[in-house]
Amino acid sequence: MAMLLPAHGMAAAPKECPPALAADQPTVAQSIEQADVNNGSLSFKQISDHGELLFVAKFNTCDGQGRPETTGGGDFRMVPTISEEGEFVNAGQLTKLRTSAPDSDACAGCHNDPAAGGAGDFVANVFVLAQTLDPVTMSVSPSRSNSRNTLGMHGAGPIEMLAREMTGDLQAQFAAITSDGTYTLSTKGVDFEIEVAGGVVVEAEGIDHDLIVKPFHQAGKVISLREFSANAMNHHHGMQAEERFDLNPAKGFNPDFDNDGVERELTLGDLTAISIWQAQLGTPGLVRPNTKPERQQVRHGMRVFNDIGCGSCHTPEMALESRYFVEPNPYNPPGTCAGAADGCPEYAFDMTQEGDGPRLKKGPDGTAIVRAYTDLKRHNLCDDPGPDAIRWFCNEQLAQGRPHQDGKPGTEYFLTRKLWDVGNTAPYGHRGDLTTITEAILMHGGEGRVSRDAFASMPVDDQAALVTFLKSLQVRTD
Ligand code: HEC
Ligand code: HEC
Repeated sequence: MAMLLPAHGMAAAPKECPPALAADQPTVAQSIEQADVNNGSLSFKQISDHGELLFVAKFNTCDGQGRPETTGGGDFRMVPTISEEGEFVNAGQLTKLRTSAPDSDACAGCHNDPAAGGAGDFVANVFVLAQTLDPVTMSVSPSRSNSRNTLGMHGAGPIEMLAREMTGDLQAQFAAITSDGTYTLSTKGVDFEIEVAGGVVVEAEGIDHDLIVKPFHQAGKVISLREFSANAMNHHHGMQAEERFDLNPAKGFNPDFDNDGVERELTLGDLTAISIWQAQLGTPGLVRPNTKPERQQVRHGMRVFNDIGCGSCHTPEMALESRYFVEPNPYNPPGTCAGAADGCPEYAFDMTQEGDGPRLKKGPDGTAIVRAYTDLKRHNLCDDPGPDAIRWFCNEQLAQGRPHQDGKPGTEYFLTRKLWDVGNTAPYGHRGDLTTITEAILMHGGEGRVSRDAFASMPVDDQAALVTFLKSLQVRTD
């Protein structure tokens, strides 16, 4: 995708309020330019600090907050109309609305537990896909949106890089396939069964047919922090990234797509900064208890976890071949900067050396060790519910692009949840409607049923050890 680039090496012009609001000021008046990232005039800390500023800022009208004429999916919406009787036929976009959004003032309005960039309370749930509709003013029915709990981004840098390395492996193995049939592709100890017909993937287990591991969204639908952030800025705040709108041929190079009077709401440099800030957040992990009996209990819990097969999905450890986080992600979709041709050449930092602590652990020979407790694969935790059964983790009605699998519509499939932060990011489950870790374990049906039943039939001391182990996995902000 060719993009028009802003002049090189020049600081962006500061934003100003329109004349009617001239007494006021934007929250983040000064964007950074990608050219200054590329030519090294901004330090790692300056880039990361700018990203944090964008993450915690409560955007206002002068920043470009709001999207009067577009949906949170980035399409044009119906313009507000009034009937002959003087009634609204459709209300147009409301400045803020909890369902269709803009639903909040800052990213950190939801992502703040235990610190900015973290997870969120049930009250911060998002009605995923309502943003693509004209305002959903009356209903949070599951036929219109999937209610999802806020996840934390601590450790998201290593997660994005794991997914990138896995994608590289899978695509290379696929490229070597020369005839139709069923194959098992394998990367970092995780197997993905695929069916190939006519040279293309027609069925794939736990992954999209494009064989790109998408580690973000609990449905596993987003490739990179950058792609997520550009979506979230538009969805939650009506703040439009120039790579998605102003510079995007698919949007007609329209400099003010949402028609709110503000252009260049977020520059390429701004998106780089917010991605780098999230990628450099501290790595979650095991907090060693103070006393010996507690440490023994945690060790016992870890053994139980592996013995009953929890680790078959929640992979305790994976190796990263490279210690570097490299922005941007080359697999980014159109409308998300993907490399030099789009105006953002590679910018890299060593995750074991730079960024907030605790830093990623080094492995041998330039590798790094990621203890995230996920295989980054989608699984089905549903049993056939039957007329009266509890529906386990199977409440959703909208597929959100998850492909049909095993004759099922896709709505049952979720990415194995990372557990490295589970100890201090309650509530639990994709909807955040579970208040204890024990309930979350007992909700595992389907592919998780064998290990769930093993847990349910264990002596309570063993169960407690497992739960204590999970509670010791935490986001650390010290
Ligand atoms: C109204 C609450 C809310 C706001 C505001 C919000 N988020 Fe989120 N965020 C969520 C929820 C809920 C999820 C989980 C979505 C899912 O799984 O479907 C999420 C997920 C994410 C993820 C993926 C994490 C993962 O591991 O899958 C990223 C990255 C992210 N948000 C970044 C941002 C950024 C950047 C902003 C500001 C531009 C932002 N969010 C604003 C609620 C919010
Ligand atoms: C078949 C793969 C699989 C197995 C086996 C499995 N899990 Fe999970 N686990 C998942 C998936 C997928 C989710 C996300 C569920 C959701 O929210 O939709 C999850 C979610 C969780 C959560 C909720 C975390 C949170 O922050 O909300 C906990 C806790 C958990 N698993 C613990 C366990 C334990 C303990 C075991 C062993 C008894 C286990 N899991 C076995 C796939 C698995």
